Order: sequence, then C-alpha cells, then structure tokens
Amino acid sequence: KKMPKLEVCYNLMDFETVARHVMKKPAWAYYSSGADDEITMRENHSAFHKIWFRPKVLVDVKNVDISTTMLATKVDIPFYVTATALGKLGHPEGEVVLTRAAHKHNVVQMIPTLASCSFDEIVDARQGDQVQWLQLYVNKDREITKKIVQHAEARGVRGLYITVDAPQLGRREKDMRTKFDDSGSNVQSTSGDNVDRSQGAARAISSFIDPSLSWKDIPWFRSITKMPIFLKGVQRVEDVLKAIECGVDGVVLSNHGGRQLDTARSGIEVLAEVMPILRERGLQDKIEILIDGGVRRATDIIKALCLGAKGVGIGRPFLFAMSAYGQPGVDRAMQLLKDEMAMNMRLIGAAKIEDLTPDMVDISSARSH
Ligand code: FNR
Repeated sequence: KKMPKLEVCYNLMDFETVARHVMKKPAWAYYSSGADDEITMRENHSAFHKIWFRPKVLVDVKNVDISTTMLATKVDIPFYVTATALGKLGHPEGEVVLTRAAHKHNVVQMIPTLASCSFDEIVDARQGDQVQWLQLYVNKDREITKKIVQHAEARGVRGLYITVDAPQLGRREKDMRTKFDDSGSNVQSTSGDNVDRSQGAARAISSFIDPSLSWKDIPWFRSITKMPIFLKGVQRVEDVLKAIECGVDGVVLSNHGGRQLDTARSGIEVLAEVMPILRERGLQDKIEILIDGGVRRATDIIKALCLGAKGVGIGRPFLFAMSAYGQPGVDRAMQLLKDEMAMNMRLIGAAKIEDLTPDMVDISSARSH
C-alpha cells in the first residue's frame, strides 16, 4: 500500500490514521480495540478536553526545561512507553524497536509480561544506563511469578508494575472476530499449551492470569523483591489509600486503555478525585501517582502534571507509529511530543515542571458533566 511520508505526520493521531490503512487486520483489531462499546476508550482522550488552562502571563519562559524525574530516574520528558502486549503483530522486530526509541529520547520503557520478544531480548536491547520497568500479570502458579520478578530484578529492571485491573481480560469484540496468529512470538510459551486461537489475541494469551489475586497478596511481592512496586489500574481514591497502607511505592491511575471495564472513568478524572484528598490528609508525598489512557498531546501531559501526576504512560500511539514506520516513526512521535511540550509550557507560563500547579487548570466543566 502507498505510504504517506513520515514528515506529514504532525501529531500522534496521524500515526493512527496511517497505521489503520497499512496494518494487517487482526493486528489493527488487537491494538485499536477497547472493551464492549469502547465508551471508556473514547472518554480517555475526550476527558482531557473538559479541562481548561488558566495560563500565567509575563513569566520569563526564554529557557524552558521539560525534564524531570520519575521513580528517581531522570527523564527528558514526563512520559513513559507503557506496557502493550504482542509488539510483533505490528512490527517484525517487536518491542526492541520501542526500547531503541526510548533510549534515544531518554524515557523509560515498561516491558510487558506478554511481549512478543523474550524478556531477555528486550533487556539486551538496552543501551547505556537506560531504565526499564516490568509490567506483571500474576500467574496462578506463584513460583513462576516469583522467578519472573527475581529474574527481572537481577537483570537490572528498576520498577515492578502489577496489573490489577485485569482479573479477566475484557471483551474486545473487534479482536474476537479475528483469529490469533502469532507464530513468531515468545507468548505461546508464556501462556502454556492450551491456547484457543479462535477468538482473537487477547483471549488466546491470558488464560494463566490469576483472578484470585487480592490485597492479601501484596506483602508477598514486597518480600520477594527490592524493586519499587506500583499497582497499575487503580480507579478510586479508596484503593489509593489502601495502596499507601500496603506500603507500595506508587499507583498508575488507569483503565487499561479502555480495554477492560467499559464505562470506567478515565485516569485524568480519577486523578482529579484523588489528589485533593491526598493533600487534605497530607499523604501526597507518601506515594507516586502516574496516569495513562488517551494521552495524545503534550497539553494532556501538562494537565496531568498540573493535577499532581508525576508522569503519564502512552500506549497505542507508539504502537501505531512503530507499525507504520518502524523506529523512525516512534522517534518522530516522541520528538513531536517534546516540541509540543516545550511550546505549551511557554504558552501556559511555566519554565520548568515544578511550575505546573493545580491553579493552572480549571476542572469545573469536567466536574459538571
Ligand atoms: C495494553 N495495555 C496493557 N496493560 C497491561 O498491564 N498489560 C498488557 O499486556 C497490556 N497490553 C496492551 C496491549 C495493547 C495493544 C494496548 C493498546 C494496551 C494497557 C496499556 O498498558 C495502557 O494502560 C494503555 O494502553 C494506555 O492507553 P493508550 O495510551 O493506549 O490510550
């Protein structure tokens, strides 16, 4: 198929438009789908549009610094490549393409349990002091989980992200209409032999996940690793408070990119609920808060930081950029975000990340909906 030149992609949505036309149908279906009616998936992005800026004028923004730290890691810009399964559906080299781009732009990559490349291949693709985290689906067989976690720590992974919003994978109907064919991938061995390939990728790969995982299990993770522990997929302030009690290091407010519970709220909306309560109770420094879902513009990142997040995860845009253009696509997507970020920091009147404060956004229209 005829490909538009990379230079005509001016924003992250453009990569999706191109990918949709050039990707194989089952791959497109797996990456692009959300659960049920995809209401949450759409809301993830549109929730940012209900938040308005209250910019400051006459601030010296000659020099703007968009770098910051996440989990004590210095990063060029406060986003990370979040964990998305099955990278080889979109590109023959899979997740290592994202590893290289993350290195080039000095951002963190979260490695998925269900990567197409093997875990060690993705770690081996690391350059210099590049930082990676591990997303964990917890196996019914805890010995397997323990091995995965301890191997990751031994190989220098610097954070453990336990996915807590997926005791069962959601129904992504677009995906279910296609057959799963991932013959070149490591996932079959991760998932065991009884793989049902008839109803899409998500069904085929997820049978090992333990639906009995509960708060009682969290101290066990603390006992098997020294890595910082995050819960990925928290969706209410009560659970953030429980997470603090459990002594975890952070949470990702996320609904799994709208692929799990449909009509769950967006991460940015949950953030607006969580932060005032943490501040009221003096708990804001007890835990690090990240969000993901629907982040497509640097203005989305800025809004999340104003409201108190330390950073945001971005999933699909990098998959689409990789599928359409390989690493140059992902590089460009990341550069576009950096350029947007510096410009919009200037326009909002913030010279550095710490200047982004809650008074710089107006969330009253988000609340009145
Ligand atoms: C995901 N996500 C995900 N999350 C997780 O914890 N384990 C996983 O294996 C996957 N796999 C996965 C595959 C694909 C194709 C997508 C799109 C997403 C969810 C992901 O980490 C993140 O929460 C969302 O992708 C964020 O939303 P956006 O940026 O895709 O809108």
